[in-house]
Amino acid sequence: MKIMGRLELTVLFLLFSIWVAAEGYDPLDPSGNITIQWDIIAWVDNTYEAMVSISNFQQYRHVESPGWKLGWEWRGKEAIWKMTGAEATEQGDCSWFKGSELPHSCEKIPVIVDLLPEPPYHMRVANCCKGGVLSSMTQNPLQYKASFKMKIIKAPLDNNTKHIIPKNFSVGLPGYTCGSPFPVAPSKYSVDGGRRWIQAFLTWEVTCTYSQMRAFRYPTCCVSLSAFYSETILECSRCSCGCQGAGTKCVNPGDSPPTLLFPHGDEEVVPPVVACTQHMCPIRVHWHVKSSYTGYWRVKVTVTNLNFAKNYTSWNIVVQHPNLQSIVQAVNLQYKSLNLYDNRINDTGVFWGNPFYNDILLQSGDDGNVQAELLLKKDPGMFTFKDGWTFPRRLYFDGDECVIPPPDRYPRIPTHDYSTGFSLYYIFLPLIAFTICLLYIRAYVLNVNIIRHRSEQ
Ligand SMILES: *[C@@H]1O[C@H](CO)[C@@H](O)[C@H](O)[C@H]1NC(C)=O
Ligand SMILES: *[C@@H]1O[C@H](CO)[C@@H](O)[C@H](O)[C@H]1NC(C)=O
Ligand SMILES: *[C@@H]1O[C@H](CO)[C@@H](O)[C@H](O)[C@H]1NC(C)=O
Ligand SMILES: *[C@@H]1O[C@H](CO)[C@@H](O)[C@H](O)[C@H]1NC(C)=O
Ligand SMILES: *[C@@H]1O[C@H](CO)[C@@H](O)[C@H](O)[C@H]1NC(C)=O
Repeated sequence: MKIMGRLELTVLFLLFSIWVAAEGYDPLDPSGNITIQWDIIAWVDNTYEAMVSISNFQQYRHVESPGWKLGWEWRGKEAIWKMTGAEATEQGDCSWFKGSELPHSCEKIPVIVDLLPEPPYHMRVANCCKGGVLSSMTQNPLQYKASFKMKIIKAPLDNNTKHIIPKNFSVGLPGYTCGSPFPVAPSKYSVDGGRRWIQAFLTWEVTCTYSQMRAFRYPTCCVSLSAFYSETILECSRCSCGCQGAGTKCVNPGDSPPTLLFPHGDEEVVPPVVACTQHMCPIRVHWHVKSSYTGYWRVKVTVTNLNFAKNYTSWNIVVQHPNLQSIVQAVNLQYKSLNLYDNRINDTGVFWGNPFYNDILLQSGDDGNVQAELLLKKDPGMFTFKDGWTFPRRLYFDGDECVIPPPDRYPRIPTHDYSTGFSLYYIFLPLIAFTICLLYIRAYVLNVNIIRHRSEQ
């Protein structure tokens, strides 16, 4: 009966995970998206100016270097005359354009990349130039948005406003798909320090959402578990992120990774080169239930980078565990509760590294790990060492769900009977033993005295 229940749970859990991944809907960040905003801010005859911004409205998923590459398809014959705060990767064929000065880009499907930080002053606009990097809303609320401005020239004289917004937007990041543009209320810009507001003529938005299934063929991270009350160390499941030998290359201990890979430019996306393990994941998170006190318990979390080809900058993990609502302290990490569903649930939180200390998870090797500890207050009526309650329900690394081994293999307490009283048990057992010892000694001394007494008589 009990085994049946556990099996059912496992199956349900698996089904749920698969469904979640396939839908591209993230239950821990239901409204998370990247929004492209397209504002028409000036309009003269057949040219107009547009202010475009990309905002990462995701709680914990960030856009890392080499960053976003915004693309779209013009509906008519348009060209980008001038651009500030970003640039098109190709000028394209501008031969249809008559004039001494040529447009910035005449591509039918232009690809726009961000400028690197600190460009010449005349190429800047507000919120620009971050090298394509966008932080998550949680980690750095000031760096989640990028903007650029462009002047567009339309070839045939055409004042049809319906056709002004291009179609088929993309952000050039794995796993993201963008919907169709839709009109919204015109956006407003503050001038004169917020004393006056000016507004765009027209504003459209495009929403892009992420799906882990679309981004990667296999998961990219796994979780291993252990606890002080059990000798079992539950390693990551076999083939969590692919299997050894199945077309996936890996580096054996002692071998040096292929040197051809290094060095590589910042603009290149390097496929992972992972250490050979049974799970083949580039990232492993180990969750160790370290100690238990009367009112508190402590977890040690170790994040290990097994990828030789990547340093994870601004890395984060998201943990879902019912006791996170009573987290007291995160040692070595920063923490923010996600407060899902209008603050009704706060069992989920984001942990990330401290700047200049452990915010970069270095490539595989001696320094390729980050260790941290969490101190949690035991919630009465909830806390138990039974049935793997102390292990996380869900864990994400950099916004991708990690594979947690099935619950029926969790490390358990050797016998089943003590749960909540476990810590008390551990305090009282030595006390009882000690008392019994004392009684024995006392009895022995008394006995000896009595015998001595008798023999003296
Ligand atoms: C995108 O994110 C914004 C900001 O969180 C939110 O207001 C909007 O509803 C989201 N859009 C979708 C389609 O989820
Ligand atoms: C713009 O459209 C209006 C009607 O919609 C038309 O009367 C006018 O001639 C058009 N202007 C140009 C420049 O095409
Ligand atoms: C949209 O763009 C993608 C890639 O940029 C392309 O593969 C696809 O065919 C385009 N779709 C349409 C309808 O043009
Ligand atoms: C990771 O960072 C270290 C130290 O900054 C550097 O030596 C190494 O080349 C970097 N590795 C990669 C793959 O970028
Ligand atoms: C979670 O919510 C409970 C009650 O709603 C509150 O007492 C607690 O402080 C919250 N915890 C965190 C970490 O926000």
